[in-house]
Amino acid sequence: MKVPFLDLKAQYDSIKDEVAAAIQQVLDKTAFAGGPFVAQFEKEFAAFCKTQYCIGVGSGTDALWLALLALGVGPGDEVITVPDTFIATAEAISYCGAKPVFVDVEEKTYNMNPFLLEAAITPRTKAIIPVHLFGQMADMDPIMAIARKHSLYVVEDASQAHGAEHKGLIAGSIGDAGCFSFYPGKNLGAYGEAGAVVTNNADLDEKVRMLRDHGQAKKYYHAMIGWNARMDGLQGAILSVKLKHLPAWNEARRRNAKRYNEMLGKTNGVVIPRESPHNKHVYHIYAIRVQNRDALISSLAGKDIHCGIHYPIPLHLQDAFRSFGLERGSFPVGEKVASEFVSLPMFPELGQDQIEFVVRELGSILTGQFVR
Ligand SMILES: Cc1ncc(COP(=O)(O)O)c(C=O)c1O
Repeated sequence: MKVPFLDLKAQYDSIKDEVAAAIQQVLDKTAFAGGPFVAQFEKEFAAFCKTQYCIGVGSGTDALWLALLALGVGPGDEVITVPDTFIATAEAISYCGAKPVFVDVEEKTYNMNPFLLEAAITPRTKAIIPVHLFGQMADMDPIMAIARKHSLYVVEDASQAHGAEHKGLIAGSIGDAGCFSFYPGKNLGAYGEAGAVVTNNADLDEKVRMLRDHGQAKKYYHAMIGWNARMDGLQGAILSVKLKHLPAWNEARRRNAKRYNEMLGKTNGVVIPRESPHNKHVYHIYAIRVQNRDALISSLAGKDIHCGIHYPIPLHLQDAFRSFGLERGSFPVGEKVASEFVSLPMFPELGQDQIEFVVRELGSILTGQFVR
């Protein structure tokens, strides 16, 4: 039995007709760059996140970068985030001319450890970017309390957490801004590149809206230096179709995670993901932790079971950030978990028989490793 890491085709097949109709509408109206389909999706996604505003942009990286720019982050500033994330979180900080400052993550959730946050704040700190890694929200109450105490902005990187909840609040709606990626493999994925910023701050909405469109609110009247970071009309229309299915898809991911947890909870040598109380995890990634992962991943691949690693090298150890001079050992929890993560196949259409096959094979490979 083949078990892919992700099966975008299975999802596409289930909504083919709706997608075709949506694409046809965009073609008929030739509304390709921004336009009414993007505006409609913005309205729907703001309602979904329970925020007042949503601005569609070209990617999740654009969303983070423009949100920070709009908050006035620039050269000389520091922005605190975590080392265990996709590089775009820190890249966006660097692209504003500011410096990413890392704090370690918690071992249970793999998210920012709020107990370490205050020690990382300096007079240069301007903002904090908690990342809701793998689909589970960071511990937002203490993060927001510390941010407010020090007058810092909070930008949630919710790129992996569409529809996740913390104490009933939706990912992206708690901080000053929430940033989303709609990269095709995400829980809500476009058919190309796209992203969005959500916020309840009218001023921020206006600035991000202008920044994504060459700094203009009125055509050819440029109030500031911006960029071209508009969302495509086709992506807006496709995302509107897919947003309607997102709650059911997230529930299917949660069912799959529950089945994995029930079966893997009994497997020696495997640390399963933990959902914190008050959180609703949406399992963008279902990551277990094991020792000796390379052997496991290649043995599973030999059985046609395909896994990933998110992410193998924490950001402070990446060549791109070598100039910070942060050695191995700087963020011991983040380094440890990054060396143990294995992302198992996870997508809404994953079958129970496929989950059982993955767990059975994984168990027998690990048992073999222990016996040897
Ligand atoms: C945590 C995180 N932040 C930012 C991004 C960047 O999003 P994009 O690839 O849409 O630019 C991603 C997605 O890849 C991500 O997973």
